[in-house]
Amino acid sequence: MSDSIKKYFKVCIAVNLILVFIVIAAGSIVRATGSGMGCPDWPTCFGKLIPPTNISQVSWHPNNSFKEGEMIIRDELLLVANKDFTSDGDFKKANWHKYEKHDYAIFNPLHTWVEFINRLATVVLGFPIVLMFLLSLYYIKINPLNTLFAFGSLFMVGFQAWLGKIVVDRNLQGTTITYHMLGVFILIGFLLILWNRNKKELKEQIESLVNQKNLMVSIATVLLSLIMIILGTQVREEVDAIAKLTTDRTTWVNQLSIIFIFHRSLIWLVLGLNAILMYQLRSILKYRIHLVSIGILILCESIIGVILSYFNMPAAAQPIHLLFAALLISIQFDLFIKLKRSSKLTLGKA
Ligand code: HEM
Repeated sequence: MSDSIKKYFKVCIAVNLILVFIVIAAGSIVRATGSGMGCPDWPTCFGKLIPPTNISQVSWHPNNSFKEGEMIIRDELLLVANKDFTSDGDFKKANWHKYEKHDYAIFNPLHTWVEFINRLATVVLGFPIVLMFLLSLYYIKINPLNTLFAFGSLFMVGFQAWLGKIVVDRNLQGTTITYHMLGVFILIGFLLILWNRNKKELKEQIESLVNQKNLMVSIATVLLSLIMIILGTQVREEVDAIAKLTTDRTTWVNQLSIIFIFHRSLIWLVLGLNAILMYQLRSILKYRIHLVSIGILILCESIIGVILSYFNMPAAAQPIHLLFAALLISIQFDLFIKLKRSSKLTLGKA
C-alpha cells in the first residue's frame, strides 16, 4: 500500500510539472494571438459554460431565450441579462445591465476559443494537483515537508486561478500579468523540490564531489535568469502598451526604454556565468544533460531575442521566448537542487 502511494505521488508530481509547461505554452499563445480578452468574464465565457462560436450567439434576437448572467454585445457595449427571460419583438433595456468591470466588447471566435482552451488546460492541471495534495497527507507524520510543498503547490494553483480572474477583470493590465507569470515560477519551484525530494538516491550521487563554489555559481545562474525574466516582463509590459497605440510592429522596438537595453545586454553575463558553471562541472557526467540543455536554451533564447529585436517582433517568436525562459530557469533550479543534495551527501560521507 505505502509503496503504491509513493509511486502515485511521484507520478502526480511528474504529471503536474508537464502540465504546468503546457499551461505556460497555452498562456503565451493566448498573448501572442492577442486572445487574452477572448472571454470577457471569468470563470464563464460571455456568461456561458461552453463559449459561443458565432456572433449571433452574443447578439440580441427577438423570440430568443436568455439566461440570467448571459452576455450580448449591443451598440459596442457588453450587456448582461438580469434574469431568465424570452425576448419579444422589442429590445427592452430593463432586462439588461452594462458589464461594469471593463469596457472591452469585441467578439472574435478564434480569440474566444484560444482563451477557452487555455482555461481548460488550467482546469486539467487542477485535478492532479488536488490528487497530489491528498496523497501527500500520507507523509504528514513521516515526511511533513512533502505535505507542506504539496499544499504550497495546491495553494499556488488556486492563487493563480484567482489572479487569472483579476487579469481579465482589469483588461490585461501589465503588472497583473507579470505577477501571474512569476506565480507560475514559484509553483514550478515547489514541484521541482518535491520531485527531487522523492527521487531515489543513486550510489553515484554520493560519489560526486560538489563544493560550495559550485553551489554559489549555480544559485547565481538561477537568480540571474530570474532577473532576466523580470526585466523581460517589464519589456513585455512596454511592448503591450506600445501595441495598444500602434499595430505597426516595425516601430515597436525603437520605442522601448532603457530596460530593454539592460535585458538585451545582460545576456553576456548570463553566458559568462553559465560558462563558468559548465567548466566547474565538466568532469561530472551525470550533470551533462542539464548543462547541455542549459547551453542550448541560452543559445536559443539569444537567437529568438535577436529575432524579436531586429525582425519586428514576429508574433510567433514571443511565446517561444517565454517558454524557453521558463524551461531554462527550471533546469537551472533543478540542477541547483541536485548539486545541493550531492554536496550534503559528500559532506555526510566525509
Ligand atoms: C537568457 C536569456 C533571456 C531570458 C531568460 C529572457 C526572458 C524574457 C522574458 C521572460 C520575457 C517576457 C516574455 C513575456 O512576458 O511574454 C522577455 C521579453 C523580451 N526579450 Fe528576452 N530573455 C533573454 C534574452 C533576450 C535577448 C538576448 C534579447 C535581445 C537580443 C531579448 C529580447 C526580448 C524582447 C524584445 C522581449 C519582449 C518580447 C515580447 O513583448 O513578447 N531577450 N524575455
